[in-house]
Amino acid sequence: MKRCKRVFLIVLDSLGAGALPDAEKFGDRGAHTLRSLSRSEKLFIPNLRRLGIGNIEGLGFLGTEASPLGAVCKLSERSNGKDSTIGHWEMAGVISENPLPTFPDGFPPEILDEFSRITGRGVLCNKPYSGTQVIADYGEEHMRTGNLIVYTSADSVFQIAAHEEIVPLNELYEYCRRARVILSGKYGVGRVIARPFIGKPGRFTRTAHRHDFSIEPPAETMLDALKNAGRDVISVGKIQDLFAGRGITHSNPTSGNSDGMEITASLANVDFEGLCYVNLVDFDMLYGHRQDVEGYANALTKFDQWLGIFLSTLREDDMLLLTADHGCDPSDASTDHTREYIPLIAYGRDILPVNLGVRRTFTDIAATVTEALGVSYSCEGKSMLGELTDMRLHLRESAVRAMEKSYSPYSEFRVGAALLGGSGRIYTGCNIENAAYSPTVCAERTAFAKAVSEGEREFRMIAIAGGKDGHIEGLCPPCGVCRQVMAEFCQPECEIILAMPDGYEIHTLGEMLPFGFTL
Ligand code: THU
Repeated sequence: MKRCKRVFLIVLDSLGAGALPDAEKFGDRGAHTLRSLSRSEKLFIPNLRRLGIGNIEGLGFLGTEASPLGAVCKLSERSNGKDSTIGHWEMAGVISENPLPTFPDGFPPEILDEFSRITGRGVLCNKPYSGTQVIADYGEEHMRTGNLIVYTSADSVFQIAAHEEIVPLNELYEYCRRARVILSGKYGVGRVIARPFIGKPGRFTRTAHRHDFSIEPPAETMLDALKNAGRDVISVGKIQDLFAGRGITHSNPTSGNSDGMEITASLANVDFEGLCYVNLVDFDMLYGHRQDVEGYANALTKFDQWLGIFLSTLREDDMLLLTADHGCDPSDASTDHTREYIPLIAYGRDILPVNLGVRRTFTDIAATVTEALGVSYSCEGKSMLGELTDMRLHLRESAVRAMEKSYSPYSEFRVGAALLGGSGRIYTGCNIENAAYSPTVCAERTAFAKAVSEGEREFRMIAIAGGKDGHIEGLCPPCGVCRQVMAEFCQPECEIILAMPDGYEIHTLGEMLPFGFTL
């Protein structure tokens, strides 16, 4: 398997690729961030299109590309949530069965009692509240009593506001660290946030000394595995916060997208070995939540311009992965995140421009990144590296996926084929049976019919997978009629890849049909 020295994993925060099948449970039926952006005249993304973004299943409205430069797919979220933390954890290998908890009615007495015990101070407010309003409404009482202002929001946060002259900063931070310890398990909020302020009653203002204390991922992530294996793990933007710093060897905080892109571009000149993990937050924070379609489209256009230059600075043993963490459709009814697929584009010298369809979980990214960097890490995800770098393996997997489409109610024997044309395009086929039996078409001939009718005339390889009820138990060699059809269009050296339960066998047409009839 081809290994890389550096992987750039860039997350375009909230760039969803359409509602997941369970989106309705999250109130997000029909949400589609990229489709909303495609309606803006400001959207101009020639580099993403050249890479093949429009070839991702369901994204044809962005413009398909016959000879893309990158590999593409979209991934489903297995975790029960749609926030940044859970999305990034999943792509780093950890699935969350529960969303991070929110407290629309405030925190329960057992938490506040414990909080008062460890701080020696009472609590004010304890409700979801606007940050500026909460100090206007409770600041004076806080100054009089020394009690802490505790409030939350629609997000999973425990925020503590205190006047810098009443509670010195170090003390406030220490309270946050202690709160972080008690806020675990079912009370494990995403962030505890120190919100210091200054000024006199009626004129309170917040200071720049805000500090976030994030929750640590509940299990080993790919970042931990990479760091432990001695690789560099460089974060750009809020990645550092999302992982509470764990598994990161160098952190680069940013002020927004342009800063993040600038830092990432300069890292392309650094001789590191490992992962550069970037989050570009403006898409979500400035445009998605504020339902600003034009602003979002404009930001993606700017990213695309930057990308054009960035691609040319990549080295031979680099791999670039572009993805998202969830959706935030700027033109749906709510300002909230949306439960969507995430797009994935992979690019590199050894990356084949293949389409990997629809994947089951974001954790496939962690499996791919760690394998590409030669570090062992186990998670639920399936590495895509084999398919991204080995055409035979990719054809085998495509043939296996094509089996799902098989129409075989009579034999219940599903067959899938994947045929590589001279143009580089791959045509899949399945067997299509008939009540009258003899009109049945084999999977291979379905693939040939699709290809030839699209103008393809030369073929290099075909993979075939078959099995009862869709389980591959042994080889499914092509029938005599299919071999004869192959002889019409393929050279004797054409490879026939036969799927085995775990891998494949390679044969040639010459071997399988000696003395074939041709004119
Ligand atoms: N079949 C194929 O699709 N390809 C072959 O080369 C061998 C047979 C299908 C036809 C039928 O639907 C099923 O397998 C069982 O014979």
